[in-house]
Amino acid sequence: MSTIWFATSNKGKLIEVQERFSHFGVEVEQLIAPYPEIQADTLEEVVEAGLTHLWKEHARPLMIDDSGIFLDNKEGFPGVYSAYVLHTLGCQGILDLMHSDTERPAHFECCAGYIDEKGQVLVAKGRVDGHISKEEKGTTGFGFDPIFVPEGHDRTFAEMSLEEKNKMSHRSRAFDKLAEMMELEKD
Ligand code: IMP
Repeated sequence: MSTIWFATSNKGKLIEVQERFSHFGVEVEQLIAPYPEIQADTLEEVVEAGLTHLWKEHARPLMIDDSGIFLDNKEGFPGVYSAYVLHTLGCQGILDLMHSDTERPAHFECCAGYIDEKGQVLVAKGRVDGHISKEEKGTTGFGFDPIFVPEGHDRTFAEMSLEEKNKMSHRSRAFDKLAEMMELEKD
C-alpha cells in the first residue's frame, strides 16, 4: 500500500480523506505543517498558494484541502471566511443570522490539491447542495456538520456516519476527482 501525506490539523478532514483513499489502496498520513492561508476570493487560490509554500518547506508530495460553507441567500457568506466565522460565531451564529429565513439553501465546497515530487500541482473541486437546519442536530463530524442537511435527506451531516457523509460530501467528490487526476486505481 502506498502512502500520501495530507497536511491538515483537522482530524475530521483526515479521517474522511483516509476513508476515501482506502478505496484506492492508498494510506493517508497526517502532516502537521501549518501554512499561511492567503486572503483570496477563491478556495483554489488558497490551495495553490498553500501547496507551493509547503513544497518549499517540506519538498515531498502532499495534499491539502480548503473548504467552506456558502449561504446561497446571503451572497455566499461566509465562503472563504468559514473558518473565521466558525471560530468567532459558531454554528449558532449562522442560525441567528438566518432566524427569519424560511428559504435556507446552502452548499459546501471543497478544493483538494496535490503537489507531486516534481512540484507539479493538481487541483480538484467538489460541491454538495442542501439547506441550513433550524437547529443544531447530531454529534458526528465537525465544523458546520450539525446545521447542514444535504439535498434529498432530512438529517444533518452530524447525524450521519462517516461512510454515509462520504457518499455525497463536497470533500469526497473533490478527493475522488483528485485521485482520478493522480491516476490512482480503485481497488
Ligand atoms: P478550512 O478548509 O479548514 O479553512 O475550513 C473552513 C471551515 O469550514 C472550517 O471551520 C471547517 O470546520 C468548516 N468545514 C470545512 N469542511 C467541513 C465539513 O465537511 N463539514 C463541516 N464543516 C466544514
